[in-house]
Amino acid sequence: MDNIQLNIKQVFGFLSEEIILNQAALATACNQALHDGSREGSDFLGWVNLPSSITEDDFREIEDAATLLRTHCDTVVVVGIGGSYLGARAVIDALTGSFDWLQERDKRKNPVILYAGNNIGEDYLNELMSWLEDREFGIINISKSGTTTEPAIAFRLLKDMLENKVGKEEARQRIVAITDASKGALRSLATTEGYKTFVIPDNVGGRYSVLTPVGLLPIAVAGINIRKLVGGAMEIEKATVPAVSFDYNLPAIYAVIRNELYKQGKKIEILVNYHPKLHFLAEWWKQLYGESEGKDNLGIFPAAVDFTTDLHSMGQWIQEGERTIFETVISVKEPNKKVQIPHDERNLDGLNFLEGKRVDEVNKMAELGTRIAHVDGGVPNLQIELPELNEKYIGQLIYFFEKACGISGYLLGINPFNQPGVEAYKKNMFALLEKPGYEEATRAIKTKL
Ligand code: PA5
Repeated sequence: MDNIQLNIKQVFGFLSEEIILNQAALATACNQALHDGSREGSDFLGWVNLPSSITEDDFREIEDAATLLRTHCDTVVVVGIGGSYLGARAVIDALTGSFDWLQERDKRKNPVILYAGNNIGEDYLNELMSWLEDREFGIINISKSGTTTEPAIAFRLLKDMLENKVGKEEARQRIVAITDASKGALRSLATTEGYKTFVIPDNVGGRYSVLTPVGLLPIAVAGINIRKLVGGAMEIEKATVPAVSFDYNLPAIYAVIRNELYKQGKKIEILVNYHPKLHFLAEWWKQLYGESEGKDNLGIFPAAVDFTTDLHSMGQWIQEGERTIFETVISVKEPNKKVQIPHDERNLDGLNFLEGKRVDEVNKMAELGTRIAHVDGGVPNLQIELPELNEKYIGQLIYFFEKACGISGYLLGINPFNQPGVEAYKKNMFALLEKPGYEEATRAIKTKL
């Protein structure tokens, strides 16, 4: 197996092959629409051919900027929220050592990557700035609109701190802005300050932007090979062009199955992993599917659990709670490292039956046992298998989920590329904060308090 695989055997107790195949033509038409831009949201299809359109010059520019940050900084703070944050974090967490960031500075090969602007927690920002006090830090500030409040507050604080620490000139070398080509406060700020900038293409929405500099720059700074990552994505791009028949188009099959399960009342999809490094991959996936499909009072609710951890918290609900769920399990075939369970003379813990086994053998039996139990308990189960955790397969998985999301949104009959609902909280927040221009909204909201 040299590609990620989709295993759908455990849905057949819930959906027949016929039901799935009946949707083949429709799914192929939805895929075609993503390529020819014939449906709603066609302004935001830049991600469809993105992997194959990244040039040698693009890679070099990103790698050069990454090298500069790696040279100047032992810590880089990625400032951004939603699509301007989750993709980078998903890939960095999946492909770097769990404890790398705790290593002594002189033993570390790569800068520590930290995140800000993805919340408005005052304690978080205070603690982050305290930690940065004796660090040589830099900032990658990411905002497509250039006006999002959370990252703007974090950037104002960190920029001020950095300039006071190292002076304006050195700070300028350590700040990179990634934003729109011409619009937004971040673009004008970056131009005025003379920062190195990268452009987020107009036709790539935030949640589909991980393979633009939004994701690729932080990922390269973390020491991950972005060419292999994009190479993996490109393989699935090629494997899912409209000419590929439905039977071989894995994202199309996944999209059809989840929509058919939804029609049968399975309103919640739980993305499951058995690998702690994939926690943020699930966070990225939740945003991708939640923002793309949750509109017009429709859409599967995307949830996620980390197993076996959450088998001791959410396991009961999944096994015996309301039968409105299905699971998609991300399974990693081979771990990158090896740990064997040792013999213990006295066997006080009763674990000698596992002696000599690798920890992953136990993990795999937990996975298999859980999948069988959940299917027996009425939870349809899909499995996506990665041969191992590396750049290529994570790249494949990213494009797989993006393509499936586009097809799935069109199958559902919504526009998967807008997010009008996100504005509602912003409007209320600005009204409550009495932002200039929101006077009318301020008066209106005060009557509700
Ligand atoms: O997917 C999206 O469009 C959103 O989640 C955005 O990425 C998020 O709101 C951040 O927006 P911006 O990059 O404009 O700061």
